[in-house]
Amino acid sequence: MLPRVFVATNIPDIGLDMLLTKANFEIWRDIEPPVREYFLEQISIADGVVAIPGATTKMDREAIDAGKNLRIISSYSVGYDHIDVEYATEKGILVTNTPGVLTDATADLAFGLLLMAARRMSEGERLMRSGGWRYWGPRMLLGQQVAGSSLGIIGLGRIGQAMAKRARGFDMKLYYTGRNRRPELEKELGISFLSFENILGTCDFISIHCPLSPETRSLIGEKELKMMKDTAILINTSRGPVVDQKALARALKEEWIAGAGLDVFEKEPMDPEDPLLQLDNIAMTPHLGSASVKTREDMATMAVTNLLAGLEGKVPPNLLNPEVLKK
Ligand code: NDP
Ligand code: DGY
Repeated sequence: MLPRVFVATNIPDIGLDMLLTKANFEIWRDIEPPVREYFLEQISIADGVVAIPGATTKMDREAIDAGKNLRIISSYSVGYDHIDVEYATEKGILVTNTPGVLTDATADLAFGLLLMAARRMSEGERLMRSGGWRYWGPRMLLGQQVAGSSLGIIGLGRIGQAMAKRARGFDMKLYYTGRNRRPELEKELGISFLSFENILGTCDFISIHCPLSPETRSLIGEKELKMMKDTAILINTSRGPVVDQKALARALKEEWIAGAGLDVFEKEPMDPEDPLLQLDNIAMTPHLGSASVKTREDMATMAVTNLLAGLEGKVPPNLLNPEVLKK
């Protein structure tokens, strides 16, 4: 009997093709995510799931309890804050993610947001589209100079390092903060360690690349935004809840900081009434970090490779909870 798999999102064909002869699978093809009831129903009969971040597809205690036969949760993402890994481990369920293949795509987008916010590109585009471009003037839509400015990276992991490499090409001065120092990277990337407070107080651009965890939830709130320079720009491509979005909206409205570039939000999709949408000094993309054709295909191959390995009793290459194997 082939194992039963639920693929909770419409992953590229390259991944689905790998499943054809190996699993009896159900795939959710709608662009909107499945409703929670249907998701749980599918989990309840699955041996393995290709999971995604999202409000209705969280692999929390409820979903893990529903998955009576579940052996592996293979996330189609590198971030795994939507999965209760500890509880999955307790239940003997393998958990995997897709590290590395989306590093460049996400860093490209983060650096793109930095440029957009610094040089007020989305404001300029909106001005043109509204028919409001009437003159060229030496004071029109002036932004921040990127070359020679400082970038503070919060979380010098895979994507943080790729961001630093891009910033070097733009002659930026590089700083990072995190729980641990990385002396080998300091040398290789020409980046210096600063305390979190010093990053906030001195950097022209601050880009967040740490995972969402209990420790990083609301890492940037009112107090931290008030510590930043009023010319500073905050970039977030990690997870929305790392920044207190209400505080950020106030900071942008009252100009405690100059701008922001965001790919991730506390609530996704965002409510049409969200106050951020009323603000000009912000560049936004709808969680597009890994959205290149090649990256999404590589993620599919990786997620399905992990899934099949787990279902075949092998050690999945990107296993997050090897403790399960010792049980
Ligand atoms: P990595 O694990 O390689 O890097 C995360 C880094 O964050 C590590 O260096 C880690 O270092 C650091 N970190 C962890 N906790 C803290 C903390 N409390 N304060 C400061 N730094 C911390 O992950 P990736 O770079 O591959 O991905 C990072 C995140 O980006 C993902 O978790 C995901 O949420 C997000 N992402 C978003 C995408 C998008 O579409 N917008 C696409 C891909 C990823 P240490 O452990 O030493 O502290
Ligand atoms: C991730 O991988 O964590 C992203 O958010 C989805 O690409």
